[in-house]
Amino acid sequence: MAARNLTPRFTRREVIGLSAVGAAGVAIALTGCSTEAQAGGAGGVLKSGLEIGPLSDVPVGGGRNFEVQGTKLVVTQPSEGEVHAFSAICTHEGCVVGCRDKIIKCDCHQATFDNTTGEVTGGPADGALQNYPVVVTDGVIYTA
Ligand code: FES
Repeated sequence: MAARNLTPRFTRREVIGLSAVGAAGVAIALTGCSTEAQAGGAGGVLKSGLEIGPLSDVPVGGGRNFEVQGTKLVVTQPSEGEVHAFSAICTHEGCVVGCRDKIIKCDCHQATFDNTTGEVTGGPADGALQNYPVVVTDGVIYTA
């Protein structure tokens, strides 16, 4: 009795088709990341000149959350006139962070972030909050 070869064989056309499916899957995965970012995920691109809000709404020594084109931001003012903006999406598991008493904090699992750099200062998060450069013109905060 002759042994049967059980190794799967694909025609050239099948291999090309499978490669196309794999490439499409990668493209979908990459698109998914950028869609999440635009919807307020862990980061994304905001063009410059977008109005965030009035500086007077951001307490000195604290911060306030804003949303710009679907991107959630936490804006801090560590000292008068020093303004920073970061993604408000925690790098641990995606909860929304807030700023109180000079600390950006996530209430889900108590991660903390520096209010001037967005770097992790405590808790389970292992990545900094994405920084969004800003400018203040006539008392209004804009993306830079
Ligand atoms: S989601 Fe923010 S600490 Fe876990």
